[in-house]
Amino acid sequence: MTQSFWDQRYDTPGYLYGVEPSAFLVTQRHRLARGMDVLAVADGEGRNGVWLADQGMTVHAVDGSAVALRKALRLAQDRGVSLRTTHADLAVWDWPRAAYDAVVCVFLHLPPDIRPAVHQAMARAVRPGGVLIQEAFHPAQLCYGTGGPPVASMLYDQATLRADYEGLLALDLLEDGEVSLDNGDGHRGVGHTIRLVGGRPPV
Ligand SMILES: C[S@@+](CC[C@H](N)C(=O)[O-])C[C@H]1O[C@@H](n2cnc3c(N)ncnc32)[C@H](O)[C@@H]1O
Repeated sequence: MTQSFWDQRYDTPGYLYGVEPSAFLVTQRHRLARGMDVLAVADGEGRNGVWLADQGMTVHAVDGSAVALRKALRLAQDRGVSLRTTHADLAVWDWPRAAYDAVVCVFLHLPPDIRPAVHQAMARAVRPGGVLIQEAFHPAQLCYGTGGPPVASMLYDQATLRADYEGLLALDLLEDGEVSLDNGDGHRGVGHTIRLVGGRPPV
């Protein structure tokens, strides 16, 4: 999907995925602490990055849509928190290495030609001892029609994520299943997601 696709989707007065954080991310709050440096990958309109900033973390949000990032900055301003943003295509971004205590990635779906390299860059961006938290749609989501790309190759099962992070992350959680989604008009209803938490081994 091109970034003009995303710019057009986000070019509305409201927030396509709402302004509340991912329910899964909220369940992982115990792994995060005030003062942590966090990279919010494909953060879109900022619902997750702004929530993390509101929890006292220093957040760097990166996304390919300039329209979304403008809305993310507006949401941060409305909430009285600061957010650093970078507009970049994740496939060619000069990824920082070992720079963040946590990397958070919610509902980023990439085609198989770029997905493994981006996932590996995400893992390498985590400092030793830090954590990567990811949520995405599973191929079973195709039966629900409540969000996500309608293309099986851009949806992730456990074997795919396990292979992508092999040798980079010690997986603490890898599960998929049915969930209730309430993320604005973009994702609403019952869906099937995959959820991963992996630690970057200390050196
Ligand atoms: C479904 S939205 C999720 C946004 C946000 N994480 C959320 O949960 O509200 C997917 C996001 O991925 C971004 N994205 C997709 N492919 C990208 C790429 N190659 N580089 C940068 N961003 C990309 C889009 O711009 C979009 O904001």
